Amino acid sequence: MEKAKIILDKDYVVGKVDPRLFGSFVEHLGRCVYGGIYEPGHPTADEEGFRGDVLALVKELGVPVVRYPGGNFVSGFRWEDSVGPVAERPARLDLAWCTTEPNAFGMGEFIRWCRKAGAAPMYSINLGTRGVQEAQDVVEYANHPGGTRLSDLRQSHGAKEPYGIKLWCLGNEMDGPWQTGHKTAREYGRLANEAGKVMKWVDPSIELVACGSSSSEMPTFGAWEREVLEECYDTVDYISLHRYYGNPTGDTPGFLARSMDMDAFIKSVAAVCDSVAAQRHSKKKLMLSFDEWNVWYHSNGQDADIKKTQPWGTGLPLLQDVYNFEDALLVGSMLMTLLRNADRVKIACMAQLVNVIAPIMTENGGAAWAQTIFWPFLHASRFGRGTALNALVTSPTYACADYDEVPYVDAAAVLGEDGSLTLFCVNRSLTEDFALETELRAFGALRPVEHIVLHHDDVKAVNTAAAPHEVEPRTVPVTEGPIRLPALSWNVVRFA
Ligand code: AHR
Repeated sequence: MEKAKIILDKDYVVGKVDPRLFGSFVEHLGRCVYGGIYEPGHPTADEEGFRGDVLALVKELGVPVVRYPGGNFVSGFRWEDSVGPVAERPARLDLAWCTTEPNAFGMGEFIRWCRKAGAAPMYSINLGTRGVQEAQDVVEYANHPGGTRLSDLRQSHGAKEPYGIKLWCLGNEMDGPWQTGHKTAREYGRLANEAGKVMKWVDPSIELVACGSSSSEMPTFGAWEREVLEECYDTVDYISLHRYYGNPTGDTPGFLARSMDMDAFIKSVAAVCDSVAAQRHSKKKLMLSFDEWNVWYHSNGQDADIKKTQPWGTGLPLLQDVYNFEDALLVGSMLMTLLRNADRVKIACMAQLVNVIAPIMTENGGAAWAQTIFWPFLHASRFGRGTALNALVTSPTYACADYDEVPYVDAAAVLGEDGSLTLFCVNRSLTEDFALETELRAFGALRPVEHIVLHHDDVKAVNTAAAPHEVEPRTVPVTEGPIRLPALSWNVVRFA
């Protein structure tokens, strides 16, 4: 068996883990809303049409915050279409996904769904086709107590109390030419500043996320962040990062190393934020919102031609990636990357929640089940709250297309409020088990009490409606001494 070592010290702290690191994303896209979280007539649907089986899985994941309603969808969206009596709401063409949006599920439904899911809303506004006035209006409608036209309108729609939405995204991926109303960094930065300013005038308690790059591979990456922040640094609280990875060539070792790219992305964006702060002599430290991340490539071919085929249906089967076992391993490493950067990344949203590049899949009128990536997310959300520690890992490395030295053992550690310690590890080796020696410093008497392993002999194994339990974690006996990390495995080791 190969050997690796990890040193953990209670006082060697990265930072407090913001629970919002385990957020998710619901977009009006494909079957995320219609047929996902909302399906009136489904056997498990409640009186509002919210699927009970999906809500149960969402609660199991413990998602504390959900970004909504887009995504690319939001850049042509009129929020006022989505409020008031459903029968009076208009159907609209959604140009982002060539879909007909019936607006049967809107802002009020989302807020009530969030309450049932135990999640806080993170609401995106349209800065593609809209501007400062609409930004002011939507905050007034949602958050002003009453006595004005828009807050009274909300009350007349049955919501006496303000929705109290604290977290707002200033548009979506405005650097992307695919975006409705795409802008240059200067155009967007100015608009974000002016829209954000009035939104905070309406409700000073809100927090704002400015759009960063839609990927670190964008030709404008870096310059985009700098120019945007030069315009809106004082107004916003976070800048966003989006990143998806795929394995189209079947290069598992290279694919599993992609979390190193995510880490470099985070550090580069933090560096740009700090350089803008320095330039402005600002003491403010901008935080990061990694509000779209996941594996996404299985469905790319299927969705590539949507602008040409223009289906204009509702609840179309778009972006329905069926995740395999190796995807779960990379998702585990991506979660650990977020934890290791917990001092800077305060919000992160796995994209998305149901059916659309999601941990939860459903059939219309039928079952809901957990995809492979559900499991590392659940473990991180459940056991990754507390204080992220700096895990010093000594591990043999391998070379792949992008990196000369990729550690076989990838690890992160979190100290819980109750003094318990959780160690997350991925063994990236295709063939070798690892014996992981742990040196725990200054913790007092801690013993391993639980070891959960996610492993499958086939990296391409998937969960389906017919076989929903094919890839599932199991608990293995805990041992004193080195921890055995099976080849290609996600591990959660809990010490108490
Ligand atoms: O999550 C799917 C899409 O990916 C979102 O709509 C967009 O923001 C990103 O490009």
